[in-house]
Amino acid sequence: MRPRVTLKLATSLDGRIATASGESQWITGEAARAEGHRLRASHDAILIGVGTALADDPLLTVRQPGLEHRQPVRVVLDSRQRLSPGSKLALTARESPVIVLTVQLPAPALVRAGVEVIQVHAGRDGRPSLTHVLTALRGRGLISLLVEGGGEVAASFLRCDAVDRLEWFRAPILLGAEGRPCVGTLAVEELGQARRFRRLAAEPCGDDLWERYERL
Ligand SMILES: NC(=O)c1ccc[n+]([C@@H]2O[C@H](COP(=O)([O-])OP(=O)(O)OC[C@H]3O[C@@H](n4cnc5c(N)ncnc54)[C@H](OP(=O)(O)O)[C@@H]3O)[C@@H](O)[C@H]2O)c1
Repeated sequence: MRPRVTLKLATSLDGRIATASGESQWITGEAARAEGHRLRASHDAILIGVGTALADDPLLTVRQPGLEHRQPVRVVLDSRQRLSPGSKLALTARESPVIVLTVQLPAPALVRAGVEVIQVHAGRDGRPSLTHVLTALRGRGLISLLVEGGGEVAASFLRCDAVDRLEWFRAPILLGAEGRPCVGTLAVEELGQARRFRRLAAEPCGDDLWERYERL
């Protein structure tokens, strides 16, 4: 048993999540951000890669009026515990839980900050194996997981076929091939190997488009 996984993407029209320099806030508009907070509030946990944690220093809390009581557990995939004890996530870990999944023994500085560090088996790439990550999260009673990126983490979940739903917010801008792709390499050589999804809905969300998909 694993949690139900939703991958949320906020991209340009050409599927980029950041400029080449890493600037990503804010590609989509206010309405999409508000929906993003509602999505957070409707999941038990939110997950990002340490790349996003280092680039953006996000809080990952629900900041939508009326939903503040619904704070999901915040999870970071971090093979070598690069998350700083001075990051916003670590500094708020005692107010709202933060879990770091790593392949190493827990770093004392993160543990002292109140972060729960879970050591799991490494996959072939030396990073936390997603099978073990999902089992560990389910073991803590977390039934629904919102994956918020970045591109490398999104690709890892897609490669191991662990994405049940896509929530895709697309802004009417173009960032070009130099922008960072929303999904990293998937090792697709033939169309027959590509992950396929069925569109459930597509609706305007402010100036952006909100598309929802489920796995086939
Ligand atoms: N527009 C948006 O909605 C949005 C959302 C999120 C992020 N972003 C942007 O995306 C950029 C960061 O994306 P990114 O692709 O560089 O980083 P990322 O996907 O956030 O993090 C990747 C890192 O996570 C760690 N990791 C640990 N276990 C992993 C696993 N099983 N699979 C994959 N990664 C694993 C790896 O570092 P270690 O091996 O050292 O652990 C890896 O380098 C930033 O510029 C950020 O602003 C945009």
